Amino acid sequence: MRTLKVELAERSYPIHIARDLLDQPSLLAPHLRGKSVAIVTNTTVAPLYMARLRRSLQALGVQPLEVVLPDGEQFKDWQTLNLIFDALLGAHCERGTTLIALGGGVIGDMGGFAASCYQRGMPFIQVPTTLLSQVDSSVGGKTAINHPLGKNMIGAFYQPKLVLADIGALSTLPARELQAGLAEVIKYGLIRDQEFLLWLEQHMAGLRAGDQALLEEAVYRSCCHKAEVVAADEREQGERALLNLGHTFGHAIETGLGYGVWLHGEAVAAGTVMAARLSALLGWLQEEDVQRVERVLLAAGLPIRGPRLGAERYLELMRHDKKVQDGRLRLVLLQSVGRAVVSDAASEAQILAAVESCCA
Ligand code: NAD
Ligand code: GLY
Repeated sequence: MRTLKVELAERSYPIHIARDLLDQPSLLAPHLRGKSVAIVTNTTVAPLYMARLRRSLQALGVQPLEVVLPDGEQFKDWQTLNLIFDALLGAHCERGTTLIALGGGVIGDMGGFAASCYQRGMPFIQVPTTLLSQVDSSVGGKTAINHPLGKNMIGAFYQPKLVLADIGALSTLPARELQAGLAEVIKYGLIRDQEFLLWLEQHMAGLRAGDQALLEEAVYRSCCHKAEVVAADEREQGERALLNLGHTFGHAIETGLGYGVWLHGEAVAAGTVMAARLSALLGWLQEEDVQRVERVLLAAGLPIRGPRLGAERYLELMRHDKKVQDGRLRLVLLQSVGRAVVSDAASEAQILAAVESCCA
């Protein structure tokens, strides 16, 4: 098992990465405050992994409350969040009850947000079961739900006590979901680690085929980056914003099409190409760099063109972005492959041109 630590003083926590972690009660034990635990999951993940997590908790004398939500990005909303509160209150859960989010990024983001506000905050554990959630969303404490006008617009920073990334869970993940997770893995290479990007280019076929040793390595290296960035800038005052490469464009795609039509990772992939194209329009990237970005995303089975929403519509949707400052759009762009910056250097005309040239 490989273990990393997110260094946040008294809120520091470990990330354990290996196969079969769901069956290891000893990893959970130090992080439970008492014997009251609620597992939040969904209708897809529950039949796959609930029994194993339940057995581990039972071995510790815990009989967990099980909260099973409908599955899908379109349920990352107030109504579904409220189902968690209904269940917690109905079962008389206390402030010391530990909430365990078992599932992908949607469950992690909603479970974390519920934990941040239930009785003003309850202990929270992430058990991510998708590649995307293992490499990104389970680490760093961003929690949220969507609003019809904007993605992840209502939420809180709330760190978990523990992240358990069981690589074995990735064996049941549909290919499309695995590919979506690869978008966030490639992101780390593009923004801060050329060597990792090269490794990904070399091992993409094996990663897509579900090779567990390669996936474990990819999760570990991604979490090293995520843990380092979060420790340096927990509340996104600076460097953490770089983790949003492609996201401003991607969120516009997700919101514009309706949540759940494109997967988050797919939207981020097309958005990353838009960011690369814009970086080239600013004279920062060469044409061959943009082509390299496209090639690695294509090799991961991801879209490199966005849907035709109309460039003006993209821009309108992009204005609902958490990086907007004094009404001015700030975007994560590439100064070179392996080096990202947050910049407001691009004019509206350049943004529109980049979007236009990257839509199919
Ligand atoms: P998801 O949670 O919707 O999971 C994808 C699908 O896989 C779902 O149908 C899910 O039920 C299913 N699934 C989960 N684990 C499975 C398994 N082991 N086997 C088979 N099926 C499984 O999507 P996601 O890609 O994990 O996460 C996307 C969400 O994460 C978005 O809402 C995005 O905004 C959010 N996100 C948050 C952060 C953050 O920092 N908080 C970062 C990136 C993304
Ligand atoms: N996924 C971006 C972040 O956690 O900051």
